[in-house]
This record gives sequence, C-alpha cells and structure tokens, in this order.
Amino acid sequence: MIASAKVLLLGDIGVGKSSLARRFIFDHFDANYKTTIGVDIMTHDLDLEDGEAPFRFVLWDTDGDFGQQIFSSVYVVGAAAALIVSDATRPDSLTKAGGLAETFASRFPGRPAKVIVNKIDLLDDPAPRFTVDGLSADDLALTSAKTGQNVMQLFRTLGRTIRRRA
Ligand code: GTP
Ligand code: MG
Repeated sequence: MIASAKVLLLGDIGVGKSSLARRFIFDHFDANYKTTIGVDIMTHDLDLEDGEAPFRFVLWDTDGDFGQQIFSSVYVVGAAAALIVSDATRPDSLTKAGGLAETFASRFPGRPAKVIVNKIDLLDDPAPRFTVDGLSADDLALTSAKTGQNVMQLFRTLGRTIRRRA
C-alpha cells in the first residue's frame, strides 16, 4: 500500500493555491484565473528519492473565500499538513496566512505547515525578505507557480517531513 497524506492548501483568494497545485502535478501554468468553488481534491504521486515507494499527496485545494471559517468545515478533518499561501504583492494576504498558520498549529499541533509567499516573479528584488510574527525563516518558503521556482523542492521537502513523522 502506498503511503499517502492529506495536505491542505489554504490562503486568501487569488494568491495561487490552485496554480501551485497545477505546477506541481502538471508542470503547467495558466494565467487565466478560475476561482475554486468549495474544494478541489487532487492526488499526485511523487518519488521522494529516498529508496521508498512513491509518496501520494492528496491535495485539498480550498476556496480562499473560506478564510478562518475553513476550520469550522469538514474539509480540514484528517489533514496531515498544510501549505498556507500568500501573494508576494499583497501584504494583507501574508497577514491572513499568518493567522491561518496560527489556527492550524493550535488545531493540529506538531503537524507540518509552511507559509508560502507565492508570485515572487512579480518582484524586482531578486532576494526579497518576508517575516510573519511567530514564524521563523524555516516556516516560510518563496515560490512562483508561474516560473516554477522552488515548487518541486517545496513538495519534496514536505513529503519527506510528513514521511519522517509517520
Ligand atoms: P482561489 O481559488 O480563488 O482561492 O484562488 P487561488 O489561490 O487558487 O489562486 P489561482 O491559483 O487561481 O491564481 C490566481 C491568479 O494568480 C491567476 O490568474 C494565476 O494565473 C495567478 N498566479 C498564480 N500564481 C502566480 C505566480 O506565481 N506568478 C504570477 N505572476 N501569477 C500567478
Ligand atoms: Mg483556487
């Protein structure tokens, strides 16, 4: 039996949750915005190159409209980890991600969670720095679903972290 884990994609509307999933699964980017209604569930197997069988991600790509209400829904039940996404050009989305990360940590203590600053292709600064109250630099990752920067590494690292905990 293949090891699998439910991973939540959380974060404000339009920050790129679905685009990160699409980059990860299909290595493809779509500039057209089609907002997620409710939740899309997608599975993808990734070889973690650790001598074990591939690891199955069961991504729960949520609708950013939920905000903190997502934690009152059935969608979060059984989550092994969360990727909490923000938009590098929208500081408010990073604040919201910090709040979601805090709620996730209290609801699922010890389960891996990372705050993602996505769309870094839109910044002029090649080495931007972001901080979120209560989070260390290790808790943050910078990505671009458009260029693919850091996307595969992000999922590979997360998969290894989840597998190590299991
Ligand atoms: P909801 O489902 O509404 O919550 O949004 P979402 O977080 O799933 O965002 P989505 O992936 O649909 O992306 C929203 C818009 O941002 C789309 O037009 C994407 O093409 C664009 N986008 C997503 N990621 C990136 C990125 O890394 N760089 C750039 N330049 N645009 C991006
Ligand atoms: Mg979406």
